[in-house]
Amino acid sequence: MGIEGVKNIILVLSGKGGVGKSSMAAHLALTLRDLNLKVGLLDVDLCGPSIPLMLGLEGEVIHQSSDGWTPVFTDSSQSFAVVSMSFLLNDKKDAVIWRGPKKNALIKQFLTDVCWPDLDYLVVDLPPGTTDEHITLVENLKTHKSVAAVLVTTPQIIAISDVMREITFCKKGNLPVLGIIENMSGFVCPNCSECSAVFSEGGGEKLAKNSDLCFLGSIPLDSIFAASIKKRCKNEKMEDSDTLQKFHSIAETIISNMKRISLISC
Ligand SMILES: Nc1ncnc2c1ncn2[C@@H]1O[C@H](COP(=O)(O)OP(=O)(O)OP(=O)(O)O)[C@@H](O)[C@H]1O
Ligand SMILES: [Mg+2]
Ligand SMILES: [Zn+2]
Repeated sequence: MGIEGVKNIILVLSGKGGVGKSSMAAHLALTLRDLNLKVGLLDVDLCGPSIPLMLGLEGEVIHQSSDGWTPVFTDSSQSFAVVSMSFLLNDKKDAVIWRGPKKNALIKQFLTDVCWPDLDYLVVDLPPGTTDEHITLVENLKTHKSVAAVLVTTPQIIAISDVMREITFCKKGNLPVLGIIENMSGFVCPNCSECSAVFSEGGGEKLAKNSDLCFLGSIPLDSIFAASIKKRCKNEKMEDSDTLQKFHSIAETIISNMKRISLISC
């Protein structure tokens, strides 16, 4: 029970809301699964859980037994385990307006009371900013050997200055940063697949350079890529695309950076 059997934990963070944390977390988890790794996806966005909807898992429930909570598995191989607040709600329309202590207790339970299988990776999706959820999670993961963060930003300068605060949060919490993804960088036309610039580009790369962090790559606004999460979750055959390939190479860099961090902390 709990996360004893989890080898690596990746927190997906951003300073600003709506930059694509949940999308990146879901694609990352699915890409790791497609590399034949055992993967868990934990949705710690307690007030606005979006992972179940994104994966097409609405209506699924977490079962409770004497052993603890059983995650939602997406197929019989049980290679992909998902846990979200919304799997615990009776009525999905129920708003979760919880105060700090109750939230903290639930986050702890996600780490201790869930029967996580032995996982290669647990990917954690968080709300924006540096809230109670972030602080509680990082505190409760302090003793775990291999925990690191991936930061998501968009090309606009405001998002980038917000991510600076997130970098400070990671430094203070001794949380290694695997790198920065610039999402919504350009626009891929759904008709002809041509990618055009929308906002100024290259901000994420500049930020990474200035902060001495790894720039993982950029992902354009691509409606087909965004909608493919559900299909990927069901293991449906996906048409290859430039965006999927870009994401694949981002995931590979994340894995190699994680390996390096684990070696250092050993
Ligand atoms: N690269 C992309 N191309 C197209 N749409 C995208 C892309 N990334 C994210 N989106 C869309 O943008 C919206 C916001 O994305 P998402 O929910 O992943 O952001 P978030 O950072 O998790 O938001 P929140 O801060 O509310 O948790 C979603 O509708 C998602 O499908
Ligand atoms: Mg989200
Ligand atoms: Zn076009």
